[in-house]
Amino acid sequence: MMDLNVVILAAGKGTRMKSNLPKVLQPLAKKPLISHVVDTSFLVEASNVVIVYGHGGSLVKATIDYLHPNKPIRWVEQAEQLGTGHAVKVALPELKSDSRTLILYGDVPLVSKETLQGFIAATGEQDCGLLTVDLDNPTGYGRIIRDASDNVTAIVEEKDASEEQKKVTEANTGIMLVNSEHLQRWLPALGSANSQGEYYLTDIVKMASDEAVNVKATMVKDPMEVEGVNDKLQLAKLERAYQLRQAYRLMQAGATIVDPERVDIRGSVSIGQDCFIDVNAVFEGTVTLGDNCQIGPNCFITNSKIGNNAVIKANTVIEDAVIGSEADIGPFARIRPGTVTEAGVKIGNFVETKKAHIQEGSKVNHLTYIGDAEIGKSVNIGAGTITCNYDGVNKHKTIIGDGAFIGSNTSLVAPITVGVGATVGAGSTVSRSAKEHALTVTRAKQLTLADWQRPTKKS
Ligand code: UD1
Ligand code: CA
Repeated sequence: MMDLNVVILAAGKGTRMKSNLPKVLQPLAKKPLISHVVDTSFLVEASNVVIVYGHGGSLVKATIDYLHPNKPIRWVEQAEQLGTGHAVKVALPELKSDSRTLILYGDVPLVSKETLQGFIAATGEQDCGLLTVDLDNPTGYGRIIRDASDNVTAIVEEKDASEEQKKVTEANTGIMLVNSEHLQRWLPALGSANSQGEYYLTDIVKMASDEAVNVKATMVKDPMEVEGVNDKLQLAKLERAYQLRQAYRLMQAGATIVDPERVDIRGSVSIGQDCFIDVNAVFEGTVTLGDNCQIGPNCFITNSKIGNNAVIKANTVIEDAVIGSEADIGPFARIRPGTVTEAGVKIGNFVETKKAHIQEGSKVNHLTYIGDAEIGKSVNIGAGTITCNYDGVNKHKTIIGDGAFIGSNTSLVAPITVGVGATVGAGSTVSRSAKEHALTVTRAKQLTLADWQRPTKKS
């Protein structure tokens, strides 16, 4: 197959966004609009991606370079927006010879790999290919004009269309696939004698038709795929459409999702069998769920791996962590970066963990902070335990041996080691190592003052 260039038009300012952020950097699923298009370009095996930028160029460039490192992306500035035809014309020097060029838009984020692959396959190497869409209300779009034998002869913009032409419901999505040599020939010949005084890319269709180059229209099934974003309302609409797609994908892979309209995936989630996801779960970055995981309502999970048969209860936050199989986490747990739990660990309500390795079968059930800690197997951490890991300047480690029992309301002043099988009495502040298989208790001895009396009110 011929090499594929993708030209992404992204010079528009996006005034209707009412934002300082350039339009193509507005986030959809926490990723800039244009970044979705760049990803899709490489999924359809573009060997060369050319981005035509204008407004906010340096920020767009820096963001894309950061998000897509080491990719063959070239940048072309269109200082003045003279129309879509002009925009593609400025990209001509960056196109490979003996290639085809697919034209995409930085603000049309949902066009899928499958749709583009179908479009590419349907369009001959010498053709002028158009992706079209049938719309109930095509107002504002360019219309596809066909002759008596149904061949496409032109695209007419809404503002230049006759009443008869406006009745056509087949609209131009803007996405085209054209042999690059045709573009080299046609684009310099475009004029701007139209109602908007712009160089219309769409005028190449008539040129193709006049030269008897085959114009091949391919109709997209789902209009949402080719919808552009111009304001925050459309952005929200596309966000929901995108999220629904993600939810469908998970359900097709076997997940039970209580309400597909109330789950958000800002990144990628992979799942094992029989996972159950309750309402308002939010996933970010790369999240992996094993088999038979249950994610309770309102959980927020970022860049983490959850083992088989884990139960994550309501309102739990998990970030950059690895949760072992058979875990029982939450409700209201906060699992921070660097937490690794082995099989069968229980972490209960109002427990915060950070850089903590917790081994098999250990329990941290209530109101506790475990940071910079190594916790052995079958350890019980009582309610209200704090690892005092920070001395105001440096962080220190707490190491707790297998089978240790930490009584409630204990402060473990790190660096500190609690031996295997050790017991720490409730209410202790422990600042030296606790001996294995022994009771360590640091609280004051209990006194009873039998002749003590409560104060009485002064008259
Ligand atoms: C364009 C098509 C129209 C189609 C519609 C689909 C033309 C002449 N018309 O119209 O047939 O139905 O898209 O949405 O192509 N851009 C640049 N530089 C420019 C002009 C535009 O980068 O000089 C970018 C814009 O940022 C935008 C895209 O190209 O992302 C489309 O431009 P816009 O002016 O919105 O085109 P439409 O008038 O909607
Ligand atoms: Ca316009």
